[in-house]
Amino acid sequence: MDDLNGQLVNLRPIKDADLEYLAALKNDMRTQGWNQRLPPSYTPRTVRERIERNTGPNKGMWAIETKDGKVVGHISYDEERVRLRASIGIITGMEAWGKGYAREAMELILRFLFEERGMQVALLYTLSDRVRMMGLAKKLGFRTSSVLREATVIGGKASDAIIMDLLREEYYSTRGSADKSSPTSRVAGPM
Ligand SMILES: CC(C)(COP(=O)(O)OP(=O)(O)OC[C@H]1O[C@@H](n2cnc3c(N)ncnc32)[C@H](O)[C@@H]1OP(=O)(O)O)[C@@H](O)C(=O)NCCC(=O)NCCS
Repeated sequence: MDDLNGQLVNLRPIKDADLEYLAALKNDMRTQGWNQRLPPSYTPRTVRERIERNTGPNKGMWAIETKDGKVVGHISYDEERVRLRASIGIITGMEAWGKGYAREAMELILRFLFEERGMQVALLYTLSDRVRMMGLAKKLGFRTSSVLREATVIGGKASDAIIMDLLREEYYSTRGSADKSSPTSRVAGPM
């Protein structure tokens, strides 16, 4: 898995030295959206196992590292339909919110998915109380494509499960590129 380099952050493979920080992130109920079972029990070992499960020919996970070498989160993708549709997951620590890191990390992974992997659709699963994720996704051009009402409970309050997606044509209409052809019009193998 290659590094993806931006102006503010680099996306690079996760190292052993990152595991402690990433476990703390997963155990922080303010950043951990989906698993609200208590007590949060991630350890460096379980994070490593999760990374291994999320790494393969059609899925991957990177650390989000600032230009001065500080890890601030992770970002992942999973081609749910190979070369057609990929979901994205992202978490950054609260100390890194509002600084443009997550936005650039998302732009880097979108460029990878559309321009290198030839995806037709990028999507993310989130929750209605994740206002920062929804705000960021909207800024990137994502739209809400489905809502599962009151699908989960966070802090005693019902929250909707939301799918937001961005189509290939929508991506290129705002970013521009030479190659706008849909993967369905090209011969695409499983890799
Ligand atoms: C999602 C996450 C990676 C976004 O990173 P971030 O640094 O907070 O993102 P940004 O600051 O670039 O964008 C957040 C946007 O949310 C919106 N926003 C922020 N607070 C808001 C509020 N209270 N109500 C409505 N919108 C809000 C704004 O549009 C804001 O962007 P702007 O201030 O530049 O206009 C980060 O907040 C995070 O890790 N959250 C916890 C985990 C999570 O929810 N992950 C996603 C699960 S799918």
